[in-house]
Amino acid sequence: MSSYRVAVMGGDGIGPEVLDETLKVIAAAGVTLDTTTYELGAAHYLKTGEVLPDSVLEELRGHDAILLGAIGAEVGSTAVPAGLLERGLLLRMRFALDLYINLRPFQGVPGSLAAGCDFVVIRENTEGTYAGEGGFLRQGTPFEVATQGSVNTRHGVERCVRYAFELAQSRPEKHLTLVHKTNVLTFAGDLWQRTVAEVAPGFPEVTWDYNHVDAACIYLVENPGRYDVIVTDNLFGDILTDLAGAVAGGIGYAASANLNPDRTGPSMFEPVHGAAHDIAGENLANPIAAIHSGALMLDFLGEKEAAGRVLVATKEFIESPHPSDLGTTAIGDAIAERL
Ligand code: IPM
Ligand code: MN
Repeated sequence: MSSYRVAVMGGDGIGPEVLDETLKVIAAAGVTLDTTTYELGAAHYLKTGEVLPDSVLEELRGHDAILLGAIGAEVGSTAVPAGLLERGLLLRMRFALDLYINLRPFQGVPGSLAAGCDFVVIRENTEGTYAGEGGFLRQGTPFEVATQGSVNTRHGVERCVRYAFELAQSRPEKHLTLVHKTNVLTFAGDLWQRTVAEVAPGFPEVTWDYNHVDAACIYLVENPGRYDVIVTDNLFGDILTDLAGAVAGGIGYAASANLNPDRTGPSMFEPVHGAAHDIAGENLANPIAAIHSGALMLDFLGEKEAAGRVLVATKEFIESPHPSDLGTTAIGDAIAERL
């Protein structure tokens, strides 16, 4: 069996502890990883002033994948300027490594609003408002202007839409929903809608429809079962996936894969949740989002069988009776033992 070069960035707060459980479960699934640990994040920035050195970014390119825990300073801390780590570390990796798909799968856990539902959000990950277009004019004066543009290229939208159609084609329901706000964002929305309409004939088995993003928020809560694959832009995808996480049982279950499907660089796998400094180091964090992200990594690396077994073991654990206050390490152990 091959060994994979994986860059491991625990980051801040609960990040390192949920990754420890992820690595434990991957080892139990029989996959060997050759890991390099990187100390990056808020704590590292406060110690060294470094966010993501160019040399580290170059080293990352030599890896097969990146596993990330969580990045972020404590809530209310002003020691780290707003957006510095988000733009300088997380978004920098997404953009520099061309991780243009943010895949976020949701399987409603028992008792959640989406219990029994299974859908995936494909979020465009390198454009939209996240591209950072904009600026200030007459800053600090009463006549100040702040603009924040949304960048939507045909190339960027089409590669994302194609990926979503391919995914929909591979799933039993074969259904795709474009989520946007075409009634107000008439330029970007038009490009997205035309692109979906033009790509669709290449996937005759896939049915598709369109929801405005505000309506999608209602449907996600009232009838999440209507969704199979959702494709949407960067900001709508960010917001919708927090809502989807809550509906499917809580953000502690929400996994994500930042993919470069062309494999011109390593893809990055991270739980959707943040650093949760308030519970860090207390063995209280739910490692399931990170473990599921690890399974997405195995799948992308080609270890489909091991990935499938991790997903089954995790699902079985979630559905089996267990104390609700089981700690981080005990959850990791229980999933590892099933493997
Ligand atoms: C996410 C996060 C990030 C995003 C932040 C931390 C920049 O909320 O991965 O959803 O907005 O993409
Ligand atoms: Mn988010």
